Parts: sequence; structure tokens; C-alpha cells
Amino acid sequence: MLEINDLSLTVPMQQTSVPAVSHVSLSIKPGRVMGLVGESGCGKTLTAQSILRLGEHQGIGKISGDIQLHGKSLFAMSEKQLRKVRGGEIAMIFQEPMTALNPVFSIGSQMLEVIGLHLDLNHQNAQLHAIQLLEDVGLQDAKHLLQQYPDALSGGMRQRVLIAMAMSANPDYIIADEPTTALDVSVQKRIIALLRKLQQDKGLGMLLVTHDFGLVAEMCDDVVVMYAGEVVESGAVMDVFDAPAHPYTQALMGCRPEVAQNGQALTVIEGQVPAPGEWPQGCRFAARCSHADGGCQKPVAADAWQDGEHIARCVHVQVKPKADESC
Ligand SMILES: Nc1ncnc2c1ncn2[C@@H]1O[C@H](COP(=O)(O)OP(=O)(O)OP(=O)(O)O)[C@@H](O)[C@H]1O
Ligand SMILES: [Mg+2]
Repeated sequence: MLEINDLSLTVPMQQTSVPAVSHVSLSIKPGRVMGLVGESGCGKTLTAQSILRLGEHQGIGKISGDIQLHGKSLFAMSEKQLRKVRGGEIAMIFQEPMTALNPVFSIGSQMLEVIGLHLDLNHQNAQLHAIQLLEDVGLQDAKHLLQQYPDALSGGMRQRVLIAMAMSANPDYIIADEPTTALDVSVQKRIIALLRKLQQDKGLGMLLVTHDFGLVAEMCDDVVVMYAGEVVESGAVMDVFDAPAHPYTQALMGCRPEVAQNGQALTVIEGQVPAPGEWPQGCRFAARCSHADGGCQKPVAADAWQDGEHIARCVHVQVKPKADESC
């Protein structure tokens, strides 16, 4: 089980620091896929990176809360212990395959470095393992590929290499932060199919950060919706998609291109996500919400509305009745 408990963090802003993620809690069971959605700037990447304390290397300020993997606190680990977990038990796939690989080292040397960090193999076996990993992600002529440099590869091939590297130590969990947004549409579909196959074949737990509700429906078991640094709704995908509870989730789902009628303009949510440091006291979505009233001026509990595992941070939830399953 991978559990994020009450995670908060600050980012530097104008000689001070301001909260950018507040009190995020979520847990991903082994073999399950959790989608993390929300508009740009809601704190999805900061949350995902904090799981492995990567933010600390990118100038992120104070992190509080706890992350537990199989009952062990990652926040109590030394940097050396954490390095074993990163890429070993939890691997990460980033949005930008162009920048995630180092252009001055061959694919082979980058793969062997990662393999060497986590597995006790001699050079020849490490090389065979790298070839197998590249073949597993559908790359041909893997032996030759090991000698190539990243700029000789297409974006799709680079993302496959990164997925192969992520799989190199047989992790229990993968954190994938918008793994396909930098790729063109046909390549996106193939990379998603690959991720899905690996996830299912190996029973991986996964946190999938995405803007694509279609992908959440296709791949995820559970979904968490973030707005302005906090979780506003979470639950099983079937429950949340069937009857989104929070007005923000309803609005986001209403913006999907497939919802627009033929010839009609796409729906947008007026206004924008408040930046860190500009969050209001009460409901952070209130300024953009058609249901907002005086009751939204006070801070809203994460579970202000609850139906089993389906939870929403809203005092005005009006869930539409679910479709009658007997019909
Ligand atoms: N290192 C940093 N220093 C200062 N502010 C930051 C830093 N990293 C992120 N932020 C700010 O924190 C907020 C959340 O950023 P984050 O990257 O987590 O958003 P996101 O939900 O992943 O957005 P997107 O969908 O565009 O990737 C944004 O307002 C961003 O500008
Ligand atoms: Mg992001």
C-alpha cells in the first residue's frame, strides 16, 4: 500500500514561502491505478514529486505530513535509503521524454546506471537485462539502440526507453506525470496501451497524473480531483464519473470535448485557479462556483459530503440520482 497522509508543502515566492499543496491524503492499493486530475496549477505535479521527495531537489520549501510505503515512512528515511526506493520500489515517468534523458550519454550507459543502482548484476547480465527491458516495451533492435544517443530517437521511442528504465528494478508502484502530453496523438495511444499492459501484467500500483478524463475512465480504478492545492473529490472512478459530487468536478467533466454538441463551442470554466498565496479562507472554488453562498466563506472539511468511499469537499452537494441499474 502507498499512502500519502496529510501532505502539505510550500513553494518560494517573493522572499517568502507560501503553501502550494495542503493536507492531501490518498492511498493506492497494490495493483490499482489512481488518476489525479485538475486544471493546470492545481498542485498535481508537486504532489506526485513529493512522494519521492523529489521537490526538495527543485527548491521546494517545507514538506510536512507523511508518505508510507508498505508501512514504512519514506519521510523517515535517509537520502541513501530513499535512493533505493526511487526507481526500486517506486518508479517515476515524467511528462517530457526530451529532457528526462541526458543527451550526452548513450541509452545503454543511462540504462546500465539505473540497473546498477538497484540490481546486483555483472556487466554482461545487466546488458542482457537492458535488452530485455527494451524489447518488453516494444523497441526493436535493442542491442543497437543501447549504443544510440537520445537525440537519435523519436519522442515516442524516448518515452518507451524511460518506461523501460522505470521497469528495470521491477517496481511495485509507478508514478506517471502526464506521460504522453508531449507526444503526438497516435503515439500517445500506443504508449498508453503499453503502460496499461505493463500495469496489468505486473500488477503495478499506479498514480497517473492526467488532464484526460477519457484516459481516467479507461485506465483508472480510483480518481482524485485537486483544486488549488487540495483534494476536492475522490472515489472510485465509476462513482465519481456516474455522479460527480463537487461543482468543480462537474464543471471539469462538462468541459470535455466529447460533451460539446455538434458545432457548439467547447464549455470553459470562467476565471482561473488561484495561485499559491492567493487562496481564499473558505472554499477555494467559490469564486467560480454557481452554487456558492455565505456558507462557503468558512473552511470546508475534506469530507463535508460522503457516500461510502466517495468524498467531496463541498457543503452544497447535489448529486444527480444514479442511473437505475434495473433498466
Ligand atoms: N519550484 C516552484 N517554485 C514556485 N512555485 C512553484 C514551483 N513549482 C510549482 N509551483 C507553483 O505551484 C502551483 C502548482 O504547480 P504544479 O506544477 O504542481 O501544478 P500542476 O497541477 O501539475 O499543473 P499542470 O497541469 O500544468 O502540470 C503552480 O501555481 C506553480 O506555479
Ligand atoms: Mg504538472
